Amino acid sequence: MLTLTLFNHAGGVMKSSLTRDVGYTLAHAGQRVLLIDLDPQANLTDWLGVSGVTRDQTIYDTATRGDALPEPVRAHGLHLLPSDVSLALAEGQMMGVVGAHLHLRQALHEWRDRYDTVLIDSPPSLGQLSILGALAADHLVVPVPTRQKGMNALAGLAEAMATYRKLRPDLTVALYVPTLYDARRSHDREAYAALKDILTPLASPIPDRGAVWNDSASAGQPVGVYAPNSPVHQDVLRVTQEIAVATGMTLDVAQGVRQ
Ligand SMILES: Nc1ncnc2c1ncn2[C@@H]1O[C@H](COP(=O)(O)OP(=O)(O)O)[C@@H](O)[C@H]1O
Ligand SMILES: [Mg+2]
Repeated sequence: MLTLTLFNHAGGVMKSSLTRDVGYTLAHAGQRVLLIDLDPQANLTDWLGVSGVTRDQTIYDTATRGDALPEPVRAHGLHLLPSDVSLALAEGQMMGVVGAHLHLRQALHEWRDRYDTVLIDSPPSLGQLSILGALAADHLVVPVPTRQKGMNALAGLAEAMATYRKLRPDLTVALYVPTLYDARRSHDREAYAALKDILTPLASPIPDRGAVWNDSASAGQPVGVYAPNSPVHQDVLRVTQEIAVATGMTLDVAQGVRQ
């Protein structure tokens, strides 16, 4: 089992979008995939069309008490530990509990034979739930928009990584993914060039293409279901393959070969 956390404390960088669509692509290729929504805003949960979530279906009791994980819900061939706004309360509860930041890693260990890949969607913060998600990962995947906003987040990311490595010296960033890239804008081209200089390994950029992403989110469907013939789906297949290579999965997305 390989656990990857989509991580960046900045919001709107494509963490939830990539979690959903990379997860769907891996499942479509035959992997057993678990997605975990750690964001109390529950975008990932909504965008998979899952509603009516109660707190006991989320990772709340795992985070705060170290309980075993609840049974995931099913959506589009994926297993999902969904989120709900009540998960926000876990932040305060975790603070008084020694070792709480390792609860998710420990609980996932019990499921190591059940899944091939676990993808964790981080909240846009450096709070308790983000630490929980980062420390549960074998590797982080870090989306960075090709904008000033993306550059501005890098110092905070480096600082967070340094802190997490004190508890998990083996934790690495498997791949930085440039996102929301608009090649027509000189600002984006300059930011992308700067990212190439400072971040390794760096994936090829994911173009800024609003409509399909937003419409598939409203429809509660992965892009591979909502618009399988779109350029956006090609973007998804490409980045999934790059993540697979960066993390040592034996997977050919085009062939659908099992890990
Ligand atoms: N390639 C893309 N081009 C344009 N908009 C996108 C793209 N991918 C995602 N989006 C949209 O950008 C917004 C932020 O993405 P999201 O995945 O929620 O980021 P995060 O989880 O990092 O906050 C969402 O409304 C999403 O639909
Ligand atoms: Mg998100």
